[in-house]
Amino acid sequence: MNIKNNAVSLILDAKTKEDLDEIKLQFLGKSGTLTTTLKEIARLPLDQRPIIGILANEVKGIIEDAIETSLANFQVKKIEKIKKLDVTEQGIRPTLGHLHPVTQAIEEITNIFEKIGFSRERYPEIEWDWYAFEALNFPANHPARDDWETFFVDQAPDPKKGPALLTPHTSSGQIREMEKGILPIKMLNIAKTYRRQSDVSHVPMFHQFETLVVGENISISHLKGVLDYFVKSYFGEDRVSRIRPYHFQFTEPSFETDVSCGVCNGTTRLANGEVCRLCKEGWLEIGGAGMVHPNVLRSVGLDPEKYSGFASGWGVERVLTMKEGAAIDDIRLLYANKLEFLEQF
Ligand code: PHE
Repeated sequence: MNIKNNAVSLILDAKTKEDLDEIKLQFLGKSGTLTTTLKEIARLPLDQRPIIGILANEVKGIIEDAIETSLANFQVKKIEKIKKLDVTEQGIRPTLGHLHPVTQAIEEITNIFEKIGFSRERYPEIEWDWYAFEALNFPANHPARDDWETFFVDQAPDPKKGPALLTPHTSSGQIREMEKGILPIKMLNIAKTYRRQSDVSHVPMFHQFETLVVGENISISHLKGVLDYFVKSYFGEDRVSRIRPYHFQFTEPSFETDVSCGVCNGTTRLANGEVCRLCKEGWLEIGGAGMVHPNVLRSVGLDPEKYSGFASGWGVERVLTMKEGAAIDDIRLLYANKLEFLEQF
């Protein structure tokens, strides 16, 4: 009886499987307490042997059962330990993404223009020739159309609006907006544009942001004011803008718009005297602009004697890469889906 009680209390106290192995050896091993007792039965008087024998075997069974039960308990506890969630334990931080730099730039540009009353509008990305060219004063087969390296969509042309194409510029939005017939207009159109081109400064799909202001007495000063405001808001207070003559079919007069270079500060020279490699003569071009051509106003039924307007169309990727300075020298990086690059923004 003592043996049984001793063994059971030891088994209950056991903490590990190794403890149990030890106990098993101590009682049931070759020279274990119980084994020795069983051997001694042979020396007992004949009549007592069966009783003690049965008892000893019972004790052996009890000890074996107790050990097995304890082992099973250890197993359960181990599983419970695994299942338990330790909220204080150091975790692995999941990597957090962020908006694509182009999307960030679009949001920033939108905010800048919304502050001065422009509202962002949306127009079709697959457009008719009428909106992209014809109504913008490009006569059919006019050579200026070639500058837009347009992708045409393989579908039947509209009898009145001509072939379908991927918008090669956001200026198609000008016609879409004016044909709504609600004046005055202060429109911002930021959209995807497509041209058959690919090199360090061109990708076949890029974004433009177009402004259109139409009303009475809109002049070049309004255009220059908005350009200045944008340049200072987006690039910084120390930057200045300029307009210089150019040609577009849909504006008259037409301009190219520039911002002073942020690397050489418009001086063409770096601090160490070297020539600035980012800009041309201290200026960086951001895109086209001009006063809405009278023919364009007429194409949407507006009287050029009464109404005037200005429009501008600038590149999102272009201003973004210019803002980041010389760091992005290949525009195609923006669409290469390389995390090492994107994570820098
Ligand atoms: N659509 C012209 C381009 O893609 C830019 C532009 C827009 C010019 C509005 C004048 C007025 O180059």
